[in-house]
Amino acid sequence: MKKGFDYIISPISRKVFFEEYYEKKILHIKRDDESYYSDILNLDDIDDTLQKECFTQPKYQFAGKKGEYMSYDILFDKYFYNVTRNEIVEKLYKGKSLVINRIQDYNSKFLSFTRGISKELNAMLVGNLYVTPAKEQALDLHCDLHDVFALQLYGEKDWKTYNRPVKFPRTHGTLSDEDQKKHEKRFTMKAGDLLYVPRGIYHQACTQEKTSIHITIGLHGPRMYHMLEELMELAKNDDDFGAIIPHVEESLNYGEGFEAYFKQLLSKLVDKQSASQLRESIEERRLKQKSSNHPGRIHDFLNYSEINDQTKIIKRDLIKCKSWIEGGYIWVSLDGESFKYPIILKETVQFILSHDQFIVNEVAGDQTNKVKENLIKNFIRTGLLQIDLHGG
Ligand SMILES: [Fe+2]
Repeated sequence: MKKGFDYIISPISRKVFFEEYYEKKILHIKRDDESYYSDILNLDDIDDTLQKECFTQPKYQFAGKKGEYMSYDILFDKYFYNVTRNEIVEKLYKGKSLVINRIQDYNSKFLSFTRGISKELNAMLVGNLYVTPAKEQALDLHCDLHDVFALQLYGEKDWKTYNRPVKFPRTHGTLSDEDQKKHEKRFTMKAGDLLYVPRGIYHQACTQEKTSIHITIGLHGPRMYHMLEELMELAKNDDDFGAIIPHVEESLNYGEGFEAYFKQLLSKLVDKQSASQLRESIEERRLKQKSSNHPGRIHDFLNYSEINDQTKIIKRDLIKCKSWIEGGYIWVSLDGESFKYPIILKETVQFILSHDQFIVNEVAGDQTNKVKENLIKNFIRTGLLQIDLHGG
């Protein structure tokens, strides 16, 4: 089973999750399977991450008892001070929690897991790893500004959750003692368990007798107001919106008045694009920033000149692609980045986009094998296609 979103919320179905829990209430899934997440991130992966050279520079954080954060310039008094691994490990022995923010930047296995879910949910994911020694607490009582999935990888952690005084908070705020007393709920997270905490719900977690390792996956989905940002991009290229805002005295020249004129302009702008088009533009903008950030690119580069009509080619399934005809070209959008090809290549392009894998000489179209080969090479350069090193 591919480890995607369905896997982390199993046995709850995606439908039930989005209808009953998403942005609404806490979900705790107990599993009795301590190795449930080992294909996503296991202890060897974490150890391997710690061996990365970047870990000798203070990019991680340590948190002290009761959520007291220690920034690295307190720990190390020189800005560009490279620490040794012994110094890192020693902090753990002394009871500090190790927090590795954005662990996907250091671990390619976890990166490919987050990429898959990111594509499934049209959202950006950020994974933070917490190693908390016994009888400790990494972070004090707080709420997050994004939804969080906590995956318990090792040991146990006792969570306390409270209420959500503000539905969609813009600041971390505070929770009154009264709210804490009235709304406290307790969960013990064991290895293999999942806890989903919607944004805004206050929480804190501490360990008892054992060290705990868990990862939080923050889900940063586009908000409704981001649709207005897309509309603003349209407005910037619109003649009426490009006009200077008139002085108050001049506003009478606008028919019913400036207020009415402005509402009319807004309504014309809104009618220009449907809500689903705006949503798609947001998604394309997000993908464009990540475009072609996929493994195997160096292998493709090294084997590129060896491609022949027997080479086996694979399409990268995490790349979002679509095609359309416009102005005498067939256009292809790959993770939001657009490329155009002469219309004569339409059949060949469509064959490539609709197959997960193929041999070069199977590709449809009236063109010579050389032309097809060149088109395939072009798609390899964009990252859509990859050479199957074991096939062909
Ligand atoms: Fe949190």
